[in-house]
Amino acid sequence: MSDRYAVFGNPVGHSLSPRIHALFAAATGEALTYEAVEIPLGGFSAAARAFFASGGGGLNVTVPFKEEALRFADRLTERARRAGAVNTLARQGDGAVLGDNTDGAGFLRDLTENLGWPVAGRRVLLLGAGGAARGVLAPLLAAGPAELVVANRTAARARALAAAFADLGPVEGVGWEALAGRRFDLVIQATSAGLTGALPPLPEGLLSPGAHCYDLRYGAAAAPFLRWAATEGAAAAADGLGMLVEQAAESFALWRGVRPSTGPVLQALRRELAEKLAQ
Ligand code: ATR
Repeated sequence: MSDRYAVFGNPVGHSLSPRIHALFAAATGEALTYEAVEIPLGGFSAAARAFFASGGGGLNVTVPFKEEALRFADRLTERARRAGAVNTLARQGDGAVLGDNTDGAGFLRDLTENLGWPVAGRRVLLLGAGGAARGVLAPLLAAGPAELVVANRTAARARALAAAFADLGPVEGVGWEALAGRRFDLVIQATSAGLTGALPPLPEGLLSPGAHCYDLRYGAAAAPFLRWAATEGAAAAADGLGMLVEQAAESFALWRGVRPSTGPVLQALRRELAEKLAQ
């Protein structure tokens, strides 16, 4: 088994993945190295080929290379095919490279196990219809919501996404204007609007009593939506740091055959991020 791992992205300088996998390795006693590598745009396949040819064991793949990684993989898991993106590459015993996507499973695990928020029988709203939204649709539908509404600035993109997943459960795609007068028990923010401090234009009264709100991003990018959730009276709101740790644990388990415990790592990261903010 090779002990060399990395995350490929651009930019990748602020990635928490090296820290997370170092903590996992220490906790499980697995001897491995994991580094963040910035790959030039257009250079993903060549860099990944060189990495595996030189004995690398596995890669995480982040923005903007997840679709390129899907094409690079020799074999794909069903969940990677559904997500239309690969965030984890793993060298197999026969030398082939398997492409997987652990984002959706990591999200659902954070939601249901760490936070204890139910999905079954709930009215769920997913904001956004890009790659991040696509990655969580299949696990959300598998959890049995009463309804799942995908709302997006470009309504046609939401409708197309809903149509692509309609075989998995009750999903509908709409534009923002169709949200007026509707109520939801769980709202998931998956647009990239927060990266520029913006928020999708959400109507008042969208949350049912006791509703939960989750932003797939963390840090400053999640702040506008978390503020909105507090103003609108959400029972609880969470950012996506737990999802980041859970998807990493899924990747680690695929590579090493050992599932690290995530609670202590999530706690350590929250502490470190809070210290950085206070500096
Ligand atoms: P990602 O892979 O992060 O999901 P993406 O595939 O580029 O990135 O998708 C970005 C999502 O954020 C889309 O749903 C986009 O809406 P459009 O499909 O209409 O472009 C949404 N988005 C980005 N900026 C936004 C903004 N300022 N307000 C609302 N939605 C926004």
